[in-house]
Formats: sequence, C-alpha cells, structure tokens
Amino acid sequence: MDRKWWGRGIASRALHLFLLEAGQRSVYARVVHDNLATQHVLRNCGFVPAGTDHGFSDVRGEQVEEQIWRLDGVSRPKGPASPRPGDG
Ligand SMILES: CC(C)(COP(=O)(O)OP(=O)(O)OC[C@H]1O[C@@H](n2cnc3c(N)ncnc32)[C@H](O)[C@@H]1OP(=O)(O)O)[C@@H](O)C(=O)NCCC(=O)NCCS
Repeated sequence: MDRKWWGRGIASRALHLFLLEAGQRSVYARVVHDNLATQHVLRNCGFVPAGTDHGFSDVRGEQVEEQIWRLDGVSRPKGPASPRPGDG
C-alpha cells in the first residue's frame, strides 16, 4: 500500500472483511518480528500471539525471525470501526 494511505485503518478494515469470509475457521498469520504496524493490524482484528518461527523473507532476501499469530474462529470480535474520525 502506498505510504500516503498508511495509518488510516485501511489494512485493519480490509483484514476484518477478509475474516468475515473465512467463517468459523481458525486463521493463522506470520509476520516479521520487527514489523510493528502489521502486528497492530493483527491485534486490531483479534489475533493473539501464538509462537515464533524462522522463515525466508523474499522482500529482505534473508532468513528472518517471524511471529505466529492466531485467531480462533469461535471468538470473532466485531473488528475495527470504520472509517476513523477525520478520514474524510
Ligand atoms: C503494514 C501496513 C499494510 C498497515 O496498513 P495500514 O492501513 O496503515 O494499517 P492500519 O491503519 O489499519 O493500522 C496500522 C497500525 O499500526 C500502527 N503503526 C503504524 N506504524 C507503526 C510503527 N512504525 N510502529 C508501531 N506501530 C505502528 C498504527 O498506529 C496502527 O495501530 P493502531 O490501530 O493500534 O493505532 C502498511 O503500513 C504498509 O503497507 N507497510 C509497508 C509494507 C508492509 O510492511 N507490508 C506488510 C508486510 S507483512
């Protein structure tokens, strides 16, 4: 996503809409340990930390430490409000 659109809740809202399609299944996500914005997005949508792993990042071209996040299907939150105040 282009930088000018960051911080407006777009990724959190998009993930919430995706999760509505996923139904009651549990969903797992992997994120590089230092990608704090993506971790916020996952937390906004009800994910909780579920472990760590290592994997190859195509973007970085190296092995990276990853966090694994989990969202249980039976306890879906309502998700982030949209849009945020002042978003036009
Ligand atoms: C990660 C990304 C998709 C998030 O999209 P977005 O629409 O800005 O996300 P949202 O606005 O829904 O939420 C961003 C959250 O991260 C937080 N955040 C943003 N930058 C941050 C930083 N540098 N450190 C800590 N938190 C940060 C925001 O405060 C917000 O958290 P909050 O809702 O709890 O206040 C976007 O920042 C991006 O494209 N980044 C560059 C590429 C990238 O990292 N892609 C993901 C690869 S897995």
